[in-house]
Amino acid sequence: MPMTQQNIALKNDAAARSRRLPRYTSYPTALEFGNLDAKIYDRWLTSLPTNEPVSLYFHIPYCEKLCWFCGCFMTVTNKYGPVESFLDIIKKEVRQTAAKTGRLKVNHIHFGGGSPSILEPEDFKILIDVVRECYDIDEAEEFAVEIDPRTVDEAKINAYAEAGVNRASLGIQDFNLKTQQAINRVQSLSLIKENMKHFKNAGISNVNFDLIYGLPYQTLETIKDTIYKTLKFKPSRIALFGYAHVPHMKKHQQLIANHSLPNQQERQAQFELASKILQENGYTSIGLDHFALADDPLFKTFDEGGLRRNFQGYTKDKSDTLIGFGPSAISSMPGGYAQNIPSIKLYNEKVSAGVSPVVRGLSISKTDKMFREIISTLMCYFEVDPVKISKAHQIDYGFEKEISSLNKLITAGYLELNDGIYKITTHGRPFLRAIATVFDQYFNQDGDVIDRCIHESEG
Ligand SMILES: C[S@@+](CC[C@H](N)C(=O)[O-])C[C@H]1O[C@@H](n2cnc3c(N)ncnc32)[C@H](O)[C@@H]1O
Ligand code: SF4
Repeated sequence: MPMTQQNIALKNDAAARSRRLPRYTSYPTALEFGNLDAKIYDRWLTSLPTNEPVSLYFHIPYCEKLCWFCGCFMTVTNKYGPVESFLDIIKKEVRQTAAKTGRLKVNHIHFGGGSPSILEPEDFKILIDVVRECYDIDEAEEFAVEIDPRTVDEAKINAYAEAGVNRASLGIQDFNLKTQQAINRVQSLSLIKENMKHFKNAGISNVNFDLIYGLPYQTLETIKDTIYKTLKFKPSRIALFGYAHVPHMKKHQQLIANHSLPNQQERQAQFELASKILQENGYTSIGLDHFALADDPLFKTFDEGGLRRNFQGYTKDKSDTLIGFGPSAISSMPGGYAQNIPSIKLYNEKVSAGVSPVVRGLSISKTDKMFREIISTLMCYFEVDPVKISKAHQIDYGFEKEISSLNKLITAGYLELNDGIYKITTHGRPFLRAIATVFDQYFNQDGDVIDRCIHESEG
């Protein structure tokens, strides 16, 4: 009999929480990054093919207020001055980078943070003018901005539309007041209604909602209520993240009392309930944590087999190159990954001195690229044919070690094998990340893969 959620002993929540598994937004993951000489990154930039579109990521590291659950790289500021100074620097970084790459065509643009919505409308427009002067962005397929609903208004939304933004991602998290208070992020339903009205009037019809389960005081009842409130807005795409509670890394999360947090079993039940309601209401479940309506481009890409995984999560972006700007931003190049220094102060100093702010990263090998495609396919489609992918990469790889773990997963009822395709079963779906570790050549494979599944936590 296959092991089910019910008969798995999820007894040791502390152990589960301490054993966080990669989310594989990249492979190798950022955990493997070491020091990277900025000159290597500069060489990657100067050797980018001039006829292939790239994508751009802008990290705006400021927020007006601290959310206690936050796991992002951000700094709270109650003055606009530091934001203005930062804008001067990021514009300089864009110009310096474009001097190395040339004026390339851009496929996707993503503003994340922190809170890009902290930028004043005029400042956003000026920044985009600089980007437009340096890169050919006029035919970008997607231009997305992450929004904190509390810091956006009609003027900002109109400025996004004018600049070409065609997707907004709203940080909703949860509609329950008790939970909102416990995470220091109170935002009313009427505020979201107001935001949505302005997006509609501005012609931005693709709106994502970011929701989180596993937050303080969430129960099946409150999750259900949040999902039904969400459904009324009909966002074309929903991300349903598991709360990552890492107080040893994010000290402010210590403000969230341990006793207020749902345990592992409750978290899983919350995800399953939310997922069920969304699917009953026309959303297709995509990968680990996304849901999309049939008219959302992510659904079409998923349906056609073209879904990919990158630092922003699931994407239809086909570019092989993502250039990151701003502190902590990660770039993905054909030759490897490069991350900017996270400290805003040191980032400012480096860019002002005319040097690339990249400090960490990793060169990737041909074999890394093969495993990246295997892991990404599994993360997107819950199935993979490793031999087919190895052949496409012209690598003769035996997968002996991997097959031994995969066989254990088959015996446990988490995987099925048909015609060389390993497909995750319904019972195995909650363990997607643990199953993906089988192909991760950098992951410490000590211990049993089944054990890893039992202790999988969604953080
Ligand atoms: C950069 S924030 C989005 C924009 C804006 N700062 C906001 O909060 O509305 C990106 C998303 O990451 C998610 N997030 C942040 N911290 C998280 C955590 N500890 N665990 C899970 N998701 C988290 C939230 O859903 C948040 O909306
Ligand atoms: S969740 Fe968003 S608004 Fe809140 S602190 Fe984090 S980045 Fe800022």
